[in-house]
Amino acid sequence: MTRLCVIAGDGIGHEVVPSAVRLLERLIPRLQVTEAEAGWDCFQRHGQSVPETTLQRMRECGAGLFGAVSSPSHRVEGYRSAILTLRQSLQLNVNLRPVRSWPRISPRADVDLMILRENSEGLYIGREHMQSADLAIAERHISRHASEHIAQRAAQVARLRDGRRITLVHKANVLPLTCGLFRDSCRRVLTAEGLDDIVDERLVDVAALQLIERPQDFDILVTTNLFGDILSDLASYWSGGLGMAPSLNWGEGIALAEPVHGSAPDIAGTGKANPLAAILSSALLLRYQWQAGALADQLENAVGSLLAEMSIAELDSQTTQIIEQELLKRL
Ligand code: IPM
Ligand code: MN
Repeated sequence: MTRLCVIAGDGIGHEVVPSAVRLLERLIPRLQVTEAEAGWDCFQRHGQSVPETTLQRMRECGAGLFGAVSSPSHRVEGYRSAILTLRQSLQLNVNLRPVRSWPRISPRADVDLMILRENSEGLYIGREHMQSADLAIAERHISRHASEHIAQRAAQVARLRDGRRITLVHKANVLPLTCGLFRDSCRRVLTAEGLDDIVDERLVDVAALQLIERPQDFDILVTTNLFGDILSDLASYWSGGLGMAPSLNWGEGIALAEPVHGSAPDIAGTGKANPLAAILSSALLLRYQWQAGALADQLENAVGSLLAEMSIAELDSQTTQIIEQELLKRL
């Protein structure tokens, strides 16, 4: 039995997630859906951005689809970002962020790459303090364990997509201990996996430039948390921007799909939200968590065929509901 924990969150999460769930239900008629709460609304009601019941439901289901959450614009005592809490509490240690060209909407036609972003440590451990009134310090943790784990996932992804290249992205010239440990741990695992002939590496600044100049040359990129955060937004330009950027927070036996965009409070409730990033995120669940690659292909092909027939102006003027209906026709 396939189970899904649905966490719509705030804003347009309540519009794009139900659309994606209906498409998943078409592909998996016996899908068992449970809802759970998280986000800013939830914090205002229960005093927690991610209640324990939500974590429990996620663990029971082993798979989730998250919409988007708003954050307060001011500092609120006790509030912590819902997505960061979910990633940490559920040990969703790797973040998959594919970037590929789509018909019409993409600035070029030949991009097909996958960023694996370490999702549990680096600068995201949130340990900052004021050493004095004039000196703020942030800690960056890189562990052998997490680095080896992401390399294992990279090997798995390489096998699933017939990988031709795995690029380790780091800044070991300036951070030889942290980035050095990351790079060396990844290399060791990938060599043991027999993949050393397709592994190379880039300094993060060089990788950023090459992602602009020759994005078609990249295949699988493996990097630390903050570098992956930045490079994945940058690279999403090639698939048509954040509105087309899916992701999968991937742990051991548990995964949470998540469109990279935010809760877009300005258009929430208008029915105009683009559900494609949420839908493409659910395709990642199909492919990587439920081992249903053929269903993932079906969903992604439906998106491709819809985009091939619609200009960007047309797409922008469509409602969430029409996009969903057009995709249902194509499944
Ligand atoms: C993302 C987002 C998050 C991150 C924010 C909302 C904390 O930018 O998923 O990329 O920095 O990881
Ligand atoms: Mn980001």
